[in-house]
Amino acid sequence: MRAAGLQVFLDRSAEALRAARVPSERAARASERAIGLWQMEGSPGTAAAERLPVCDWVDPALEIASQGPRAALAQAFRTIAPGLAWRRRASADPSDTQFWNGHANAMILGPGGLEGRKDIWIGATVMAPGTIYADHDHPPEEVYLSLAPGEWWNAETDWTDPGAEGAIYNPPGIRHRMRAGSGPFLALWYLPA
Ligand SMILES: [Fe+2]
Repeated sequence: MRAAGLQVFLDRSAEALRAARVPSERAARASERAIGLWQMEGSPGTAAAERLPVCDWVDPALEIASQGPRAALAQAFRTIAPGLAWRRRASADPSDTQFWNGHANAMILGPGGLEGRKDIWIGATVMAPGTIYADHDHPPEEVYLSLAPGEWWNAETDWTDPGAEGAIYNPPGIRHRMRAGSGPFLALWYLPA
């Protein structure tokens, strides 16, 4: 049986994805595909909880989210966050101290997540104020929901702030990155593989 906290997080995620102002029909379809995939429970994950100093920004970011339209999603995330394995991006370079100290990712569904599965990845990224996330790409398409403000760029779209009610969509394989503003950054990502 899926843990109650995780199920609530997924239910609030479905509500937030469906309520989000999406940039395109493709984005809406990707959200629905993700929601469909997680109806089937995956095998329990084996990764132990881990944290990094930058995780101190999770609570202030959730404070911001609790004032906005995604308060219920933020509350559900607050419940599962301590059990996640927060790690740096594998390619992060310790000599780039701002990025090294300024970001952490946690898988919720997917390899190293609360359910270790390959058909869908859901995770979170936290960043300290002023941090720019490394350029990256991946074969699955991706929908991001912000919980605390940030901006996104991809090879087809200039820097965009989706606002508290928007969403960001990245087509399969596109080059993309994101950045924090003057406050903490916290976003959730949903990738139906
Ligand atoms: Fe991404």
